[in-house]
Amino acid sequence: MTKLRVLALVHRHLIPPATVDEGTDVTSAPWRTEYDVISTLTAMGHEVRPLGVHDDLGEIRRLADEWKPHIAFNLLEGFDDVTIFDQNVVSHLELLKLPYTGCNPRGLLMARDKSLSKKLLAYHRIAVPEFEVCRIGRPIRRHKRLTFPLIVKSLTQEASIGISQASVVDTDEKLNERVTFIHESIGTAAIVEQYIEGRELYVGVIGNQVLQALPVWELFFTNMPEGSKRIATDRVKWSVKYQKKYGIDSGPAVELADGQAEKIQHLCKRAYRGLELSGYARIDLRLDEGGNAWVLEANPNPQIAKGEDFAASAEKVGLSYEGVLQRIINLGLRWQPESFA
Ligand SMILES: Nc1ncnc2c1ncn2[C@@H]1O[C@H](COP(=O)(O)OP(=O)(O)O)[C@@H](O)[C@H]1O
Ligand SMILES: [Mg+2]
Repeated sequence: MTKLRVLALVHRHLIPPATVDEGTDVTSAPWRTEYDVISTLTAMGHEVRPLGVHDDLGEIRRLADEWKPHIAFNLLEGFDDVTIFDQNVVSHLELLKLPYTGCNPRGLLMARDKSLSKKLLAYHRIAVPEFEVCRIGRPIRRHKRLTFPLIVKSLTQEASIGISQASVVDTDEKLNERVTFIHESIGTAAIVEQYIEGRELYVGVIGNQVLQALPVWELFFTNMPEGSKRIATDRVKWSVKYQKKYGIDSGPAVELADGQAEKIQHLCKRAYRGLELSGYARIDLRLDEGGNAWVLEANPNPQIAKGEDFAASAEKVGLSYEGVLQRIINLGLRWQPESFA
């Protein structure tokens, strides 16, 4: 294996320690992914330099000139605390002609906007929930094709920010309240979607032109209180205490009909292509009672901590964590912006 100089771009507050004491629980550290990626690549023999990025692109340019990394491992999810600026940083890497891991800027932009991405997916005949966008400062009116229950989300925020049980609404009054909440508390436009009752599935996809879909993963809600919606709220995703209390866990999807896993994987590859993604991504879906799969969103550059959904589903088909990281690097090295656009 060629030893590479890897510039690991991480958020300034998530620079991991170079080493941790034995017995440290890395899985609960905020810099877990950064630590896993950097320590694993180093153990594999690569020379890795973490660079904490906040609001300054100059350091990236300086290191690119002086140290001449082969590739930037992009673990940034925004710039200067603005999540939608993730694509701008990647555009900057392209201007520097520095290869990078993960998704290209156009794919990031198209997947980020939950309305734009649904329009593109619908063009490709991929089932997505009906929706409507409510912009800040515009009157909130429900189109008659949207019937309750509906779910209200931020148009562009990720990681279930702003999603709680109250996001699912069944009256116009609650709809208005929740849209206003997104506008005022999250500070972005809102998207109102048809609520799809059903199971929650995730599929990792890796590749540029030739794609591999990883096994279908499921989020299980084994112990949710009666009447609550089985959705990935903020607390479901991030509170270990809540996860324990309500039996929330993920793993290979169970009891899918014959051939259904393959169909879903194929659908996810089509979604990935439709949104012009590259590198690696995770597609979020709902499976309704009739066995229909609905694509909720695509997440380019998803969470790749060791043992988390993406890495765990790769492991299931014999792709080790080291193998995943090396594959992501190789895809980045091969990606040529101008030949794809
Ligand atoms: N239309 C929908 N129908 C049912 N559940 C939904 C719908 N949209 C979102 N959800 C629930 O909310 C979660 C977060 O929504 P998602 O669009 O994936 O946003 P995020 O970018 O925050 O992950 C989903 O994983 C799902 O559980
Ligand atoms: Mg999601």
